[in-house]
Amino acid sequence: MVKRKLVVGNWKMHGIVPETSIMLEKLKKEVEDIKKVEIVVCPPFVDLYTANISVNGTNIELGSQNVFYEEQGPYTGEISPLMLKGLCKYVIVGHSERRIHFLETDKIIAKKVAAAVRHGLTPILCVGDTLQDFNDGFSKITILSQLQAALHLITKDEVAKVVIAYEPVWAIGTGKNCSAKRATEVAKDIKHTIAELFGKAISEKMRVLYGGSVKAKNANVYFDDPDIDGVLVGGASVDHFEFAKIIKGAEKHTK
Ligand code: 13P
Repeated sequence: MVKRKLVVGNWKMHGIVPETSIMLEKLKKEVEDIKKVEIVVCPPFVDLYTANISVNGTNIELGSQNVFYEEQGPYTGEISPLMLKGLCKYVIVGHSERRIHFLETDKIIAKKVAAAVRHGLTPILCVGDTLQDFNDGFSKITILSQLQAALHLITKDEVAKVVIAYEPVWAIGTGKNCSAKRATEVAKDIKHTIAELFGKAISEKMRVLYGGSVKAKNANVYFDDPDIDGVLVGGASVDHFEFAKIIKGAEKHTK
């Protein structure tokens, strides 16, 4: 089954509201002819409303960078899946920056994944090894245990809807992107584990992305690979021209 490549831009904590539409206007022009790639932009929460108006009727989808698992209540500062529904299609869950700086555990992440799918949002679940894991030979065990823990509250059919992003912590924002060979090995391990846990049909439907220092100059190696279904881009996605170049590369590499 040939899947459309998915190119997701995680703006992280960049972009104030007035800049959002300007950035999206520029991106829209650059990518208006793109047909074979699914394009997703994940701006900060406060930019989502404006962004939603901006991308309406275009080939750009939106995602949020986080979500809380309850629908409403005394959770000061949190954003629920009900609030995001209608504003965006995707939601990034379990990003390593949230695991590290906000102490999100596998247990919390599993609840967020379940809340997102049950409200019709597509989670982009991030998993990844630290440099310490990598040096100690624990990468595989870390990645696969994060994966298994995050999916344990949802059904088989719901699992098929989740997008997994392999984001090695040592590659994020360091300029040291992971080789395509290694990213492929991990994508295969992830799909193999999903097949073992939930069946082959589910693993074949599922999409696995690579993220970590993806730039226009290195992105195409990931698009050549049938086991990598796209990329999750941080820093380079804030520059509309650079991000569009990555998207155009994905289009070119799609048969
Ligand atoms: P960089 O592309 O800036 O390394 O960030 C990757 C990332 O964390 C995307 O979620």
